[in-house]
Amino acid sequence: MPQESAVYTHGHHESVLRSHTWRTAANSAAYLLDSLRPQMHVLDIGCGPGTITADLAALVPDGRVTGLEHAPEVLEQARATAAARGLTNIDFAVGDVHALDYPDDTFCVVHAHQVLQHVGDPVQALREMRRVTKPGGIVAVRDSDYSGMIWYPQVPGMDDWQRLYLRVARANGGEPDAGRRLHAWARQAGFVPSTLTATAATWCYHTPEERAWWSELWADRTVSSVYARLAVDGGHATPEELAAIAGAWREWGADEDGWFAILHGEILCRV
Ligand SMILES: C[S@@+](CC[C@H](N)C(=O)[O-])C[C@H]1O[C@@H](n2cnc3c(N)ncnc32)[C@H](O)[C@@H]1O
Repeated sequence: MPQESAVYTHGHHESVLRSHTWRTAANSAAYLLDSLRPQMHVLDIGCGPGTITADLAALVPDGRVTGLEHAPEVLEQARATAAARGLTNIDFAVGDVHALDYPDDTFCVVHAHQVLQHVGDPVQALREMRRVTKPGGIVAVRDSDYSGMIWYPQVPGMDDWQRLYLRVARANGGEPDAGRRLHAWARQAGFVPSTLTATAATWCYHTPEERAWWSELWADRTVSSVYARLAVDGGHATPEELAAIAGAWREWGADEDGWFAILHGEILCRV
């Protein structure tokens, strides 16, 4: 593992995949869709269980999508998703965004969704993404910003969740407030500001179904995932404190006035 790699804070516990598999190109990559052309060759870095990757493949029917992952175990699910959709223009590989195993100028579009917040050196990651993109091609990145998440009502314990998450993610070498930094990292990686578009977008959860899904997956993640283990092993929280945070999530989810918004930063960089 290269020195700059961070520990992926969430791991791929079922409670984490419950969130990732909800994602589509429409709800997670809308800022990129107008730039796609049917024949394009796309690299989707940190593809996870591959639902966005599969959508991208359907949008480039005369082209190809490669999903790249640092964690080989999640690719089994990504391959199954692609097969279930009958996609034949998609393949998957294991790799690290800090040192991509592709020649210069290989892809038309290089995309990463919710990945740069987890890596040890996001500027190096963007340099590599730029290197493997063809001249005239696009690097597209979207990350949430954990300090930019807001919710109602102010259930006691939810602030503890946010503070703890920020601490654990940073202790693992990541930057959970990545959304607001993407354009600055891109400039440091050598992208010219005039060829870069920076936007923001949100996810918002409010209906009973959305609240149940979002609160349960976070309650479960807080006590059962890699994140829970890292929080306890790193001395950031006790199991009792994690159980209290999980309870706060369930209390928020059960409140019919519950509302939760997630802010994302997005960049489209022309190579
Ligand atoms: C939050 S998940 C996002 C998955 C998918 N892009 C999505 O939005 O549903 C982040 C993914 O990035 C992967 N990842 C973390 N560090 C990486 C690295 N250095 N190189 C490639 N992938 C990495 C993790 O294994 C994880 O599957």
